[in-house]
Amino acid sequence: MQKLKIGILISGGGSNMHSIIRACKAPNFPVEVAVVISNRPEAKGINIAKDEEVPAFIIDHKDYDDRKSFEDALHTCLTEHAVEMVCNAGFMRILTEDFVDAWLGRQINIHPSLLPSFKGLHIHERVLEAGVKITGCSVHYVDLEVDAGAIVAQAAVPVLSGDNVESLASRVLEAEHQLYPHALRMIAEKRANLVGGVVKLKNDLIAEPSLYSPTLYIQ
Ligand code: GAR
Repeated sequence: MQKLKIGILISGGGSNMHSIIRACKAPNFPVEVAVVISNRPEAKGINIAKDEEVPAFIIDHKDYDDRKSFEDALHTCLTEHAVEMVCNAGFMRILTEDFVDAWLGRQINIHPSLLPSFKGLHIHERVLEAGVKITGCSVHYVDLEVDAGAIVAQAAVPVLSGDNVESLASRVLEAEHQLYPHALRMIAEKRANLVGGVVKLKNDLIAEPSLYSPTLYIQ
């Protein structure tokens, strides 16, 4: 099986990266991690990648004079490892038009909300403030507008009355760990295809009917 070679960009804990690395260990999983790159030297994810024997590099943006030279270094490292698709996983650096253009249609990201709601930062705080009862996470293509590219897959997660930012973030993160490998598999198997700015799905199944939050109950 010809596997899709991915490069994962991280900035922190790397738990999404780890879920992808774990998924890739299954012999029939159609994706392989060619390289992990962190823009932060202290990112815990770098050690996790090394422990998993995946090539892992720190490309610290602070070591470069400007965004262009930083992104050139990223680009070189990705191409040297024959990366076909870039996967941002908690990568907290805005990319310039040049880099986005170079990987257009070949770069995806995971975002901890049901896009197009709650783009940007401090998502869980804003979700709790807004009082929505269902939130979630989205895997989407990266394009020039932040958090606005074509959506590949989403998971819905209930917001519970006792939630705080930490409890909600951890429930959403658990869904992210399932969703990212699933979205990658769909792309690698060409069951999710970017056509005219929208992702078209082939053979998608409705496994769950609806998620109710709060849960329906009979008195
Ligand atoms: C994840 O929740 C991811 O969705 C979010 O950062 C966290 C990274 O966790 N990304 C963004 O907010 C991007 N705008 P991880 O490093 O443990 O995978």
